[in-house]
This record gives sequence, structure tokens and C-alpha cells, in this order.
Amino acid sequence: MNPPLKWWQTAVFYQIYPRSFADANGDGIGDFQGMISKLDYLADLGVDALWLSPHFPSPNWDWGYDISDYCGVAPEYGSLGDFQAFLREAHARDLRVILDLVLNHTSDEHSWFLESKSSRDNPKSDWYVWVDTPPNNWQSCFDGEAWTYSPERGQYYYHYFMKQQPDLNWHNPQVKQAMWGAARFWLDLGVDGFRLDAIGTIYEDPALTPHRVPLNLAGLRRASELATTPAERTRVERYWHDMFKNQLGQPGMHDLMKDLRAVLDEYPGDRMLVGEDDNIDYMGTGEGELNLVFNFPLMRTREITPPHIRRNQKERLARLDELPVRGWGCNTLGNHDCTRLYSRFGDRAHDAELARLNAALVLTLRGTPFLYNGEEIGMTDFLITDPSQLRDTMATWYYASLVNDLKVEPGEAALRAAEMTRDKNRTPMQWSNQPNGGFSPAEVTPWLPVNPDYGAGVNVKDQQDDPASLLSYYRRLLRVRRSAPALAEGEYIPLHLTAKAYLAFLRKVEIQTVLVVLNYSAKRLDLDLSRSSQLRGHVLRTLFRSSGRARLDGSPRSLPIGAFEVYIAELG
Ligand code: GLC
Repeated sequence: MNPPLKWWQTAVFYQIYPRSFADANGDGIGDFQGMISKLDYLADLGVDALWLSPHFPSPNWDWGYDISDYCGVAPEYGSLGDFQAFLREAHARDLRVILDLVLNHTSDEHSWFLESKSSRDNPKSDWYVWVDTPPNNWQSCFDGEAWTYSPERGQYYYHYFMKQQPDLNWHNPQVKQAMWGAARFWLDLGVDGFRLDAIGTIYEDPALTPHRVPLNLAGLRRASELATTPAERTRVERYWHDMFKNQLGQPGMHDLMKDLRAVLDEYPGDRMLVGEDDNIDYMGTGEGELNLVFNFPLMRTREITPPHIRRNQKERLARLDELPVRGWGCNTLGNHDCTRLYSRFGDRAHDAELARLNAALVLTLRGTPFLYNGEEIGMTDFLITDPSQLRDTMATWYYASLVNDLKVEPGEAALRAAEMTRDKNRTPMQWSNQPNGGFSPAEVTPWLPVNPDYGAGVNVKDQQDDPASLLSYYRRLLRVRRSAPALAEGEYIPLHLTAKAYLAFLRKVEIQTVLVVLNYSAKRLDLDLSRSSQLRGHVLRTLFRSSGRARLDGSPRSLPIGAFEVYIAELG
């Protein structure tokens, strides 16, 4: 008998981007009272856990990922009391809550950095990474040079992200103790775990080996945009890897993660850690370090196809199985850093159908699913082509580099910035067809523009009671998942391994076997059940058909699955 699964293995997580979720006080920015008012919606949707992007005080150069106080609440989101009310109300609805823990860097306005930069011999002088002169050509992945001069101290500090995000020196045990103190602060309040931000960036190559790419960051971004042939694409991918390989994924993490795990284990209730990285090594032996790392390779593709999914699952699940204590997967197709699922994996002709298929994919594969707010109503990327409206510093920096350094024509530069910025996938949640999509009152200008498609049905209110809506579809799927233990817990057994147009697999626990068929093609499929011994002779009991057509029960020789249809059935 396998041990029973932990809550974070069977839960469906939903990421809230607080700034864009719900604005209760009408200042154009989401807040905790807004989030509290939407908890019934989330409970009814059928998710089990919430991940909040950072809600801490921040000067917002990176919208909360530059933290100036790890134990506070940004005033625009409310007070600590509001946070506690949110946590209490979430727990009362059986919704767990995990927070974002940003370990690699703080804000340059954090008191630790202010002290560290004040002199070369203050008590925190060694809390960040200081050098007399830039020792190499390392780049910041957000804004060019990775070494920035501090006139107060007369030295340079290192930052993997923006210059307003100095890297902490994790070789200093005091840094660790201070950060674990912050983690305990939230664990004491009752949070259920953390999503660890950018963990691959914590350590750097101690030899400070320079990169050998013949471009700087802006040049490489531009080269990536202009790469059209497979050979050019492969070359820029290699460049991306080579440019940052000495600043990422360096040794030292196992001890650090064991330490953090020990902090979480001081608390009852299986507090969990999920790492923003796709490297399974961060799970250590399968216990005692991270519980989950995201399966980013699943989404790191231009197109989600059945062969891609099969390859991905084969590789991931094998790696997880090899760990001394069997590891658990974690699937996602969207977050606050990337193009929205609906836009990214659409083909412009069948976006709605593909969004449904991909939602079903994430919710039926083996592993913990993470959804991103707004995907359940089909929110799409919203391109902000006026550079003065961009809020993502990474994009304003790139726009300026394109125009000033690379002499790209401003119209073209604006388009490129609109495409690369993360603003496009962070626009306010669309709650209704009222002005501002019901996010903020009509007279208010939200911090990012609302995608005008809220007026064309892409909003919660219009979809809420419409059985044919995407929202109803997510709700139905989540209910099927909850009612079928095989979908939450079961082994994954791929079927029809060479099919290009569709994906068919079983999920299997002792008491139940479920068949999932995802038809990724525009053609009707007649699935020949006699082809696999696992299906032959079984009686099917339909659990879900995306088309809403009549059930397909019994033991047919072949199953008629419509174009882009999702079919889920229990095997008897
Ligand atoms: C992570 C976050 C991203 C942030 C970066 C720096 O990748 O997801 O939003 O900008 O870390 O903290």
C-alpha cells in the first residue's frame, strides 16, 4: 500500500496576482478586502489552494518582487489584519494559502541593503555581494549590466535581476537566519507553505567565470526576435544558456533547502514548498527539500501537441520515479511571467477549443496543477503598444535600449516591448461587463489597462450561469477531478503512443481506472478501443465530455470523439 497522499499532491492551486485581482477600495489596485470578497467564487470554482504573488511592502520596480519588508503588507493591499482576515476566511472555506518567498534578492530600499551599502564595515556589510570593480561581463537578465556602482560605499553590488534588486549573499549565515525568521513570521500566522521565487539564481559561480556570448542582454533579446530559421533559433537559445549559465543553478542548494525544510517542519500540517525552477534536483532525495518544482518544460514549447506531451511526461515521470523517495509532478501552463495560456497555445483559428483542451490536460495529468487567475474565463494577452503605459520595468528598459542603443525605429520597438512585457498577462481580472470589467469603479483608472474584451463575454458575471461558458467548463472539470480519485492520485499510463492528433492515457488507482482522451485535431476521431489490451472488453462510464454530447457508455469497439473534444470515462 502506498502512503496516503499529502494535501499538496491532490490539491489544485490557483495563483492570485494581488495587484490585479479585485479592487475593493476603488484605488485602481487589487487588495486583500477584494480578495476576501472573491473567496466564495474561488471555493465555488473548485480549487483547493491559493498562491499569492508577493503582497509585501515594495517600491514596485518589479511589482512586489523587490521586497522592502518581508514581514509586512504593502499598504495598497491593506493591513496585516486584512491579511489575517483573508487567511482565516480562506481556511474557513478549506482553501489553503501559500505565499511567495523571494530569497535571492531584496529591494534596494530594504533596511538590510541601506545598512549594507552605508559603509564597508557595518554589521551587514557582507549581506550582499560586493566587489571593488566589476570582475566580469555578467548581465542582469532584466536590465543589462549585473554590477552596479554604489557611490556611498564606493563599490559595486551584484544583481541578477534589476539594479533595484540586489542579490543577497547566501554564504553569510546571518542572511539565512534573517530570512528564516521572515518565513517563521508567516508560518506562525498559519500560512500553508511557500512558492520559492527564482531559486536557481541564489548562488553564483565562485570563480566568477565570464560568459562568452558576443552580445549584451539587449542585443541578445533583439537577436532572438529576429531569429527565423531553426539554425538561428538554436543559436540564440544556446546564447541564452551560455550567457547566464555561471549565474544560475550553482551548487549549494541542497543544504539550503534542507535548512528551510527543517523550518517548515517545525510546524504541524505538512507545510509545503514549490520551487520556481524546473530542475528536479531541487527536490533532493524526494523528501527533505522542495516538495514540488514546476514542470516548465511542458509549457516551454511553441505548440502543445500530443507527441510533445508524451515526451515530456515520459521524461519527467521517469526522473521523479528515480528519486529515492518517489517525487511528485507539478503541471502548469501559465503564470504572471508569461503569455497567457489562451494566447500562447492558440492557433488563431481554434483558440477557444485549444484553451479547453489545455485546461483539461493540466487537470488530468499526474501531478499538482497550478492555474493562473483569469485563465478560467479565457483572458488573453492585452498588448500595450503605447510605451508610456508600460508598467513592467523590464519592458521600459528594453524599449529604451531598442530605440537608443540598437537604433530600432520607435514603432517597431513599441511593438516588441508590448510583446515581451509581462504587463500583457497581468491586466486586471475581469469580473463583469461593467466599466473596468468590474475590477475598479468606473471613474477610476486601474494600474494597468483592462482588456476591453470584458465587454465581449470575457468576464466572470456573464459566464457564471452560462453552462456553455469556459468558466462552467473549468468548474465541471474540477468537480470531475474531485470526484475521481484516479485523476488526482493515479498512475499515468499512456496509450496509443504514436498518435499525433490525439492524446489518450489512463489514470489508475487500486479502486478506479479512468480513461482520458484529448483530441487535439479538427477532425473527428474514431478511437479504436481494441488496439490496447488495457481497454479491450472494458465497460466505459462517461464522466465528462467537453462537447456536452450524449454519454458514450458501454463497450463500443470504437469511440467517436469530436474535433477538439475532451472525453473522460471510468473503466468498469
Ligand atoms: C521570478 C518572478 C518574477 C520576478 C523575478 C524576480 O521569476 O516570478 O515575476 O520578476 O522572479 O524576482
